[in-house]
Amino acid sequence: MDKTSSIHGMWSSRLMFILAATGSAVGLGNIWRFPYMTSDNGGGAFVVVYLCCIAFVGLPILIAEILLGRHGRVSPVNTLRNLARETGMHRAWVGIGWMGIVAGILILSFYSVVAGWTLHYSWLYLKQLFGGAGIVDPGATFQALLASPLELTAWHALFMVLTVGVVALGVEKGLERAVRFLMPALFLMLLALVAYGYTTGHMAEAAAFLFRPDWSKINADVFMRAMGQAFFTLSLGMCTMMTYGAYLPKEGVSIPRTGLAVALTDTTVALLAGLAIFPVVIAFGIDPAGGGPGLIFTSLPLAFEAMPFGILYGLLFFGLLAVAAWTSSISLLEPATAFMVEKYGVRNRKRAAIVIALLCWLIGLLSVLSLNLWSEVRILDRDIMTFIEFIANDLMLPLGGMLIALCVGWALNRTILRDQLSDLPEGLFLAWRWLMRVVAPRLVLAVLVRALVG
Ligand code: TRP
Repeated sequence: MDKTSSIHGMWSSRLMFILAATGSAVGLGNIWRFPYMTSDNGGGAFVVVYLCCIAFVGLPILIAEILLGRHGRVSPVNTLRNLARETGMHRAWVGIGWMGIVAGILILSFYSVVAGWTLHYSWLYLKQLFGGAGIVDPGATFQALLASPLELTAWHALFMVLTVGVVALGVEKGLERAVRFLMPALFLMLLALVAYGYTTGHMAEAAAFLFRPDWSKINADVFMRAMGQAFFTLSLGMCTMMTYGAYLPKEGVSIPRTGLAVALTDTTVALLAGLAIFPVVIAFGIDPAGGGPGLIFTSLPLAFEAMPFGILYGLLFFGLLAVAAWTSSISLLEPATAFMVEKYGVRNRKRAAIVIALLCWLIGLLSVLSLNLWSEVRILDRDIMTFIEFIANDLMLPLGGMLIALCVGWALNRTILRDQLSDLPEGLFLAWRWLMRVVAPRLVLAVLVRALVG
């Protein structure tokens, strides 16, 4: 019964899996979304709730997803189908896989638009390096980009092409090559920016904003966004990690340790991004609260104009951010692609990836238009892009995660879990199972219900 490999290929080592899973986790969620969510939702209070969500809900579910994938060795839908056949669990659990495919398509649609912004900024700095005009008024530069549907669409298209390129090549040739060098480079860049933030003399204020919670700011809404952010940043709730787990060798690879490494790295990068951005924000007299989705695009260019070799830094920073987004977007496309490949055959991988990406690109046009021509359109009080983000990130991901926790906690028997988590000491295993059975589902449900029904 023990399957040792998948038809899609396998990660060549434990390190490759960690790099790929970290590559998936670390992306726009950490460097673009985390700082502005913190900025908009009360600073330290948001950060504390977010960290608790990561520790008590995110990490345990990350372990559950990898475990399901490694047991199943196929795409999420088929993994759950096989489990239903093998263990007699209800076929309705397969819905987790379907919802994951839908969530992935929705997320990739706007993710690619924002990733396009990073490509545009890389291009601006590249031009500037060769004598082009500088970004004098970052606010105006950002507004000008958002106002141009054509430009947004072009960068969105370019990013989607890059994403499909990697996914079409498959696991060994595509995904691995992209992550090996570029992730460490991004990490170093962030450290350099934190160091620059230190020289502005505003690190203490930034740290206070990030880490000193004002409890009065916490309400059900903030809780829901922190939960959504925890799922988003760890790539959870839509079976991405399950899919990556399917390509993970069994011999000598510990799922809990690997999951912990991924969660720690991801959290570190988010906090570093906060420590890099807020000193600059404060130093240039911007209000750290209420920065909105433009936060990094309107604040960091101020630092790049002021610091020595700033233009080069700007180019490297936005370039590497685009790469981080790239290693994440391929993981958004992979679950649906793997499913299509299982349905239509391995030789059709390219076509499968292209068809799904095209769909994502088309849906992404809604987000593009909501930034300019359709900016007045409101659905449930939100513009279209924010609405898609809300449905996918804040609702579908936590819901998917909750169902995964329930499935692993109640529907699967101990033998399967123990077989995958063989190295986890009994006490920790019981604690993990309790989190899956009781804590995670209740917390997610309570947060969603409170936030939605008020
Ligand atoms: N985690 C990525 C980020 O922080 C985005 C991402 C990739 C994602 N795959 C995912 C989010 C799956 C949710 C689900 O940028």
